[in-house]
Amino acid sequence: MFTRTPQVRAALVGVALWALCAQGAAAQPVQLTVAADRPGPVIARQLYGQFTEHLGQGVYGGLWVGPGSAIPNVRGWRQDVVQALKRLQVPVLRWPGGCFADEYHWRDGIGPRARRPVRINGNWGGVAEPNAVGTHEFFDLVEQLGAEAYLSGNLGSGSTQEMAEWLEYLTADGPSSLARERRRNGRAQPFRVHYFGVGNESWGCGGNMRPEHYVDLYRQTTTFLKTPADRAPKFIASGGFEQDTTWAEVLSRDIRGVFEDIGPKMAGISHHAYTFPGGDFAHKGPATGFGTADWVSTLRNPQRIGQILTQLEAKLDAHDPKGRLGLYLDEWGAWYDPEPGTPPGFLVQRNTLRDALLAALHFHVFHEHAQRLRMANVAQMVNVLQAMVVTDGPRMLLTPTYHAFELYKPFQDATSLPTELRGQPELVEGGHRLPAISASAARARDGRLVVSLVNADPRQAHRVRLDVRGEAVGTVQGRVLTADAMDAHNSFARPDRVQPRALATPAGGDPLQVELPPMSVAVLTLGR
Ligand code: AHR
Repeated sequence: MFTRTPQVRAALVGVALWALCAQGAAAQPVQLTVAADRPGPVIARQLYGQFTEHLGQGVYGGLWVGPGSAIPNVRGWRQDVVQALKRLQVPVLRWPGGCFADEYHWRDGIGPRARRPVRINGNWGGVAEPNAVGTHEFFDLVEQLGAEAYLSGNLGSGSTQEMAEWLEYLTADGPSSLARERRRNGRAQPFRVHYFGVGNESWGCGGNMRPEHYVDLYRQTTTFLKTPADRAPKFIASGGFEQDTTWAEVLSRDIRGVFEDIGPKMAGISHHAYTFPGGDFAHKGPATGFGTADWVSTLRNPQRIGQILTQLEAKLDAHDPKGRLGLYLDEWGAWYDPEPGTPPGFLVQRNTLRDALLAALHFHVFHEHAQRLRMANVAQMVNVLQAMVVTDGPRMLLTPTYHAFELYKPFQDATSLPTELRGQPELVEGGHRLPAISASAARARDGRLVVSLVNADPRQAHRVRLDVRGEAVGTVQGRVLTADAMDAHNSFARPDRVQPRALATPAGGDPLQVELPPMSVAVLTLGR
């Protein structure tokens, strides 16, 4: 039987336990069957989305250096970082927060930069917020990246009028004073707003609301959010956190019945789920120098997130059986103890090989939930939490997570294919269990079959034998990301310590068998 759900997949996990002292590849290959003749839902490229917030050096320094900077830039956006991100084909970028969004007033960020007000960033270290990056700068960035724009509106401390006027400023054409003001500020054509979030974490930093209050506020507020019909964004409701599914329950239930009126004003519900190795926000754990128990407890978290997604889907299925509402996991990623010596509230953490595997395991879960899951945004893009890129003044380096996103590019807008794994070992450590091998498969937009594999075993290589149903396949090519330590990371001294390399193909052996090194992520292309 082919599987898509982690629960069923877990049931198929073999009984072999992790051999603590094992070296080399296990004796028997794990069997991976791909049903090329049973296409599933399309894996929306937005599942590979990004998130950037006015937080630490996520924007200022990491992306924005200003047009006068000695760091090469285009209209203020540093080009080493922008060009690196372009290679990821960033599909969508969420901005300006996060918690920052519910304290952000869009009028602070338009007009001549020298005259913009300086505010205090009350969520993130109490530092000065110069408002040098505002609406026009953000849209310049997404246009340079070729990404869709996802704005988070201020529901917590802003007014309905303020939000409505921002949308009019962004999207109106013709004689409107707000459109004229936009033109005076240098933008003749309306901006293309693809997604608009109504608040962020409204249960917490976005206003400490109850879902029943939020849903009424959402209905009231969105009544007044108007755009030209051909420029309407998809409106996203702010949802729950971790295992709390009550927001999805209340939102999907209370939208039902008025769906024909409000439906176009709610494309979906957001949810946030982070990975804390210690189990919750209060128990994060170090980003480096951890042991195998932390390795397993971290890497099993995507499975837990998959279970949360299943529960959210059940809520939505009950109230929206036609599947009109999407799930938007618009914040996910590893959240560790901050790097010692970094400013409070800047959320700086080292990014290691563990994070690359963590990202890949998230991608596999996202592919399994591609029917309802319409977007996922890693937190965050640059310098903050599980970042793609780290900067230090004029220097930049790519993280292991960057390389995972780069490897998985063929899955953007690919058609998912069912997979089945048989005979694989299970890692058991510190009371946590994790299948050693995880796999996903899809038919890429160019027609090629792609398979991704993760070997989470930190000590042992594993061979995987591919069996493709419904298509003749005789060759396998691919790249693998691995390193010599669980917490291996790139640094300015060794920027290429963790980077992909070609996966060795077996010489004279079975062409459909690959050997995955310990602690590795591989993406393969299958040919005839
Ligand atoms: O990504 C950091 C913070 O995490 C965001 O600002 C907030 O939405 C979440 O709690």
